[in-house]
Amino acid sequence: MPDHRMNRQIVMAERPSGELALHHFRAEVVPMPERPADAVLLRNILVSVAPGARAAMQGPTHRPQLVPGELIPSSVIAEVVAGPPDGPAPGSVVAGTAGWQEYSVVPASAVRPLEPVGPLSQQLGFLGLNGLTAYFGIHAIAQVRAGETVLVSGAAGGVGHLAGQLARAAGARAVGISGSDDKNRILESKLGYAATVDRRSASFQDDLRAACPDGVNVYFDNVGGPILESVLPLLVKHGRIVCCGVTSHYDLSDPPPGPRDLAVRLIAKSLRMEGFLVADHRPRWDEALRDLRRMHAAGELTILEDIRDGLDSAPAALVGMMAGGNVGQLAVRLAQDPPGRPPA
Ligand SMILES: NC(=O)c1ccc[n+]([C@@H]2O[C@H](COP(=O)([O-])OP(=O)(O)OC[C@H]3O[C@@H](n4cnc5c(N)ncnc54)[C@H](OP(=O)(O)O)[C@@H]3O)[C@@H](O)[C@H]2O)c1
Repeated sequence: MPDHRMNRQIVMAERPSGELALHHFRAEVVPMPERPADAVLLRNILVSVAPGARAAMQGPTHRPQLVPGELIPSSVIAEVVAGPPDGPAPGSVVAGTAGWQEYSVVPASAVRPLEPVGPLSQQLGFLGLNGLTAYFGIHAIAQVRAGETVLVSGAAGGVGHLAGQLARAAGARAVGISGSDDKNRILESKLGYAATVDRRSASFQDDLRAACPDGVNVYFDNVGGPILESVLPLLVKHGRIVCCGVTSHYDLSDPPPGPRDLAVRLIAKSLRMEGFLVADHRPRWDEALRDLRRMHAAGELTILEDIRDGLDSAPAALVGMMAGGNVGQLAVRLAQDPPGRPPA
């Protein structure tokens, strides 16, 4: 019998130096959190597994650096157990940021009520932060136009598998970079990527050129590092680089030096290189979610999910992700979806 006065969570045991490993995590059982009057108590149903958690273990990002003993941060989909009278009703389902734990207490104003339709895993994926990140990266930052070539790294991942499909739906030619031939076959056969390149291939630079014979108009960069350096010469006049993430840096104690002659390359071809955070676009999330739902209903978006079971599987899932072990949205399920949710 679970003890409902106690809460199980996964914390950072020690700061990694180099590759992430299981011993960098520790499971703890702690007393249930107290709920302030303006907060909700959540029972977490799904927690995301994302490279951003690995980044926070290493150093400050858009969130402060984790210290040993701190909870691993994540997006969650959760059922409201209790909250203020003017907050989301007990039994309703919300999205928020709460971390790898069974229960959490967060300000009621910080959760987003969800429509009571469709599988909840979709709310972490294409209807969650990854879908919104792909959407605003492709539309608001890159402003992709029909006929352009859009190159996506991390193309088989949670953000990447959606970014390529959104580019294609905008009339562009999507080209993907992933870490294996198996992933690339999925990108081409199921997601409509026109061409793909294996980042581990010995002939990577030549393969990239062959996959983008007219050059690259937009590089949607999920990984940074040497792949960014390889893509720079392929960008055409007025090309755009969307800086979404730098996964290749997250397992390194010291970030690598930037690409050589970056400013010269940007100037010579009038390139635009722009970073963004999905939260910057919060006022337009509802509009984007309506569009993503419409596209999915019209069969324009194929969703790839990799859902593991049980809180204790989260550390291995993140370690595996950093080695390229996921296809699509990676998440961990802590509880079943509440009954009675009709399909989306
Ligand atoms: N800007 C924002 O607001 C925002 C929001 C959400 C996520 N992000 C960022 O978006 C990126 C993608 O996130 P995600 O959740 O969709 O993760 P993901 O792409 O599903 O998983 C990470 C993938 O990165 C690749 N990878 C791992 N190590 C690498 C290396 N050294 N060099 C190149 N590729 C490597 C692996 O794929 P392959 O082996 O197949 O290459 C791995 O599967 C992350 O950098 C994340 O931080 C940004």
